Amino acid sequence: MPARIDIAFRLNGVGKRASVAPETSALEMLREVIGLTGTKYGCGEGECGACTILVDGVTINACLMFAADCDGRDVMTIEGVNATPRGEALRRAFVEHGAVQCGFCTPGIMVQAWHLLESNPHADQATIQRGIEGNLCRCTGYKKIIEAVAAAEAVERGQTPVEQSREVQRG
Ligand code: FES
Ligand code: FES
Repeated sequence: MPARIDIAFRLNGVGKRASVAPETSALEMLREVIGLTGTKYGCGEGECGACTILVDGVTINACLMFAADCDGRDVMTIEGVNATPRGEALRRAFVEHGAVQCGFCTPGIMVQAWHLLESNPHADQATIQRGIEGNLCRCTGYKKIIEAVAAAEAVERGQTPVEQSREVQRG
């Protein structure tokens, strides 16, 4: 087995090269080799979702993926999500709805929510709840997170805050 593997991939829309050990995870590469620390290390076992990234448009736990398997792929992290209009809408909604406490789970949940709204722009709260069920949060109890994602979705539909609150009251 080679001591290092040279890989080339797209990271947040930009071509990237890295030299990684065969056992290095995608999460380690992102955080420690490339220096993108937005993606978090929670459990390291695929259970918490703190390390959620997008690979070729599909959400994946970066702690369970070998860095070498990023070769030739299109990788998007929370830093890339943040730079999009939908990422900005989510970020604002998380702050406005008090959906962030310690913030450790937030990048993973935002990546998951961003992907959910990409594939289902009209997701209702039940769909959002199912969509983020693989992401654990020890602080907020999920209600505010789900409301924040729903609010970001409503903003994209052009709803005002008053219209949003009427919709929430109607359930
Ligand atoms: S750190 Fe990857 S799922 Fe928990
Ligand atoms: S805000 Fe603390 S774990 Fe989610």
